[in-house]
Amino acid sequence: MKKSVSSTGSAVADILDAEAIAEGVLPSLRPQLRRVTVLTEVDSTNSEINRLKPAEQHAHAILAERQTGGRGRRDRKWHSPAGGNIYLSFGWRFPHGDHPFSTLPLVAAIAVGNTLKRAGLEGHGIKWPNDILAGGKKLSGILVELKSSGSGGSTAIIGVGINVHMPSTGPEDPLKNIDRPWTDLDSQLREPFLPCNRNQLASGLLDQLLAALGRFERTGFESFRSAWKKFDLLEDGEVTVELDDGTVDGIARGVNDAGELLLETTEGKKRSFHAGEVRVFRGIRTF
Ligand code: BTN
Repeated sequence: MKKSVSSTGSAVADILDAEAIAEGVLPSLRPQLRRVTVLTEVDSTNSEINRLKPAEQHAHAILAERQTGGRGRRDRKWHSPAGGNIYLSFGWRFPHGDHPFSTLPLVAAIAVGNTLKRAGLEGHGIKWPNDILAGGKKLSGILVELKSSGSGGSTAIIGVGINVHMPSTGPEDPLKNIDRPWTDLDSQLREPFLPCNRNQLASGLLDQLLAALGRFERTGFESFRSAWKKFDLLEDGEVTVELDDGTVDGIARGVNDAGELLLETTEGKKRSFHAGEVRVFRGIRTF
């Protein structure tokens, strides 16, 4: 079995295994999972699901040890070295098109937040719309892509990257060029939760995604509101929202039914911002 060495120096027998991941999913949810595929290398797991025939996309999880063209939100790259992170994409077909899809990225972030909590992490939260931060640094990112899939249905591809054992190398390390502060689970978890087993983490993530997607189909965003409030790192904090044509300062006041960020501006106006239009870069709440 391949051994990888975590950044804390402990040797971890940790290679992704499709069978172990599928078997680790809760028995009550397993029937809803169609397939787990593990690849050694791929450009992007989201792109790989997208290339499949529609019938093969639903409830199919694709993981890779390494991505050569990992994609993030707003056309950013997602650095995806080999050595022990999670790069997972999950396809889900919604037979009806009448769901509040703009809130799906927030629902996916809650699922990831819950997964990390069950893995023993504390004090992490979500920076709207779906960055998972721990200790003020980015631990996980989510890219949700949606396309209509005929007869009124839609297919979502939910891509999750979680830094678990980020390999540390020398001064030429390309990870040093990541423009925002980042962290990994090795640095954030405490005993007895170390070392983190990636197969168990992936099974736990699929548990949370399956449960969340079922609930989202039944209730929309409504039943996720209280969880959002618990994870929301911005609420009641001073934030600056960056738009293409300037910035807006104000106090974050949660999200509306469309998952938009609500802001009480310093001029006393109420404004809402759609995901993708804005960047929030100040006022992160720490616990
Ligand atoms: C972001 O924070 O900008 C989103 C990052 C999403 C990264 C994941 S890794 C698995 C999946 N495949 C991709 O190419 N991107 C997502």
